[in-house]
Amino acid sequence: MMWFGVDYYPEHWPEERWPLDAKMMREAGMNTVRLAEFAWALLEPEDGLYDFAWLDRAIEVLTREGIQIILGTPTAAAPKWLMDKYPDMYPVDIYGLTKGFGTRRHYCPNNKIYRQYSVLIARRMAEHYKDHKHIVAWQIDNEFGGACYCQSCLQAFRLWVRNKYGTIDKLNKEWGTVFWSHTYRHWDEIILPAYSSSDGFSQNAGAQQLLSTPYNHNPGLLLDYQRFFSDATAEYQRLQIEEIRACTNLPITHNLMGHFSELDYFDLARDLDVVCWDNYPNNMWGKSSYTQVSMAHDLMRGLKNKNFWMMEQQSGPCGWHMMGDTPEPGQLRLWTYQAVAHGAEAMVYFRWRSCTVGIEQYWHGILDHDGIGRRRYREIKAIGAEISALSGLLVGSDNVSSAALIKSYDNFWSHRGQPHNVNFNYNGLLDAYYSAVAKQHVNLDVTSVESDFSKYKLVMMPAFNLVTEAIAAKCEAYVEQGGALVLTFRSGTRTWNNQMTTLTVPGLFKQLAGVELEEFDSVNFGRTVRVQSAFGEGTASVWCDVLKTDGAEAIATYASHYYAGEAAVTVNSFGKGRVYYVGCDLDEAALGALTELIVKKEGIPTTLSVPTNGLEAIEKVKDGQAFLMLLNHNNEHVECPLNGIYEDAMNGTKVKDRITVAPYGVHVLLKR
Ligand code: GAL
Repeated sequence: MMWFGVDYYPEHWPEERWPLDAKMMREAGMNTVRLAEFAWALLEPEDGLYDFAWLDRAIEVLTREGIQIILGTPTAAAPKWLMDKYPDMYPVDIYGLTKGFGTRRHYCPNNKIYRQYSVLIARRMAEHYKDHKHIVAWQIDNEFGGACYCQSCLQAFRLWVRNKYGTIDKLNKEWGTVFWSHTYRHWDEIILPAYSSSDGFSQNAGAQQLLSTPYNHNPGLLLDYQRFFSDATAEYQRLQIEEIRACTNLPITHNLMGHFSELDYFDLARDLDVVCWDNYPNNMWGKSSYTQVSMAHDLMRGLKNKNFWMMEQQSGPCGWHMMGDTPEPGQLRLWTYQAVAHGAEAMVYFRWRSCTVGIEQYWHGILDHDGIGRRRYREIKAIGAEISALSGLLVGSDNVSSAALIKSYDNFWSHRGQPHNVNFNYNGLLDAYYSAVAKQHVNLDVTSVESDFSKYKLVMMPAFNLVTEAIAAKCEAYVEQGGALVLTFRSGTRTWNNQMTTLTVPGLFKQLAGVELEEFDSVNFGRTVRVQSAFGEGTASVWCDVLKTDGAEAIATYASHYYAGEAAVTVNSFGKGRVYYVGCDLDEAALGALTELIVKKEGIPTTLSVPTNGLEAIEKVKDGQAFLMLLNHNNEHVECPLNGIYEDAMNGTKVKDRITVAPYGVHVLLKR
């Protein structure tokens, strides 16, 4: 059965309304709700005084309508009494300023007392609900987030580096503290990379605002701090998991945020039974392209190489101070099936009814503030009926991917600290490669370098700059046995602890790629460099490696600047496979053409034979039954050519050779 439901906050509404909400949910085909993840102040109104009565009553009302419950631990919103009692729990920013009360996530995950209180509330909830037959899963906290520089973090970081390096000499060597007299003599001299004398003035500065970067610390320290904070968050999560696990075997999850990269999601996911995530494609902060959303879904699947759940799927116009676009008719259905196509086995919409209070007054749910179900409710009700009929096919189905894109959080952090060029962005480069390949109707996994490469015909590792010998050896073995590997500029430039390699670049990948860098050009101030090749002309506007081939063959060369005529993109045969080294960024059209050449040459299967703009075709299989999910992201009809004969799983009609897909339309086609 597929979980189909909504995030519900009964505590925001009069109790008399609950039965109507539950009835309307059931009528919309809903079988689950997530509850309680911000309700700590109600669950424990005073220190040690627990009150589950209101939640019990809400659960009772919901379950009477056949709705099952996913319970969230409320630790993302600690009550005022707790914070007043232990103000050290507040997170501290890079300037040493305390981030105070008034929103949420106002805690440091390293604070020992916060950990104790979190464990206690999780334990109390788990004990109270352990025999409840309608609880079906648990969610830990809500959307773990960014950094903290408090005293608890400092102490914990000192311990973390001590465990990692063993001796202070080793740490000094790995971080290269000889530079600018940073040598540490004792563990208790170790610092957090907080505000320092060379830092700029904008804490949130990233690659786009380099001139005010806060990332001026020693790169080894910066990277280890990110790793430490990510580990600390996973440890905090584990403490709650252990409490719940002691009471129940139900699945335990945490709602992640797709492309958010401050924490190593592979590590967080390891301890979870199932990954879930929150997807808002169109809100006040921006609008995601459909490939960005698909890539996020594929990454969420790739975290455990396993299907995932949607815990918050956008269901209305949303924002905190302003609102993004209202989802058009058909879009909620399209987003739902997009998630399902990429591996979602639960669809929980955010939120049931738009709230009249709090900063999320504008974050519209399925119902408006007046509680009346209008178009969005009707659409979701129709999806509910449809999806329940299909759930036997969809739940437990596998995505069929012959290509993988490798994401590395360590590499993200390293690049983010020093992005090489003001316009370089690691996640942006991954996005460009994913989109170029996905638009050719190649289905991808987005996963970690630790995944098994042997199941893929193509592995892409853009800008993988931190490398170990083990990773290089794994890549060599993969290519040797016939795999195709794509590397790009900035690959292999650093050691795992963020030192520049002393090997000739691309370092540990040099032999595999059959090239070496003669020099490079960081492209700035609006300059562009022309590139020419058998796959057409293009431009680079971020980075150009000037390559000397050593066994590899050039498939593109530069056509401007002092390195005109030099190799820009190469291919090297290695064992039974091939390595593509892409020495520069490429505009969208040129990257499309290059990846098309690679896809053809490597014989990577495509799900449609003719590229069709804005149409996704995702191949899946369930118990030997192959099926294709077609998703039209265009607001107009699309003619889709098909290979072979299919049966439309929604209406039983036979489909041969082609199908017309309606604006924002979806088809689930069984291979016949
Ligand atoms: C999510 C969060 C929800 C809600 C929503 C709208 O990121 O998990 O609790 O806040 O955003 O802001």
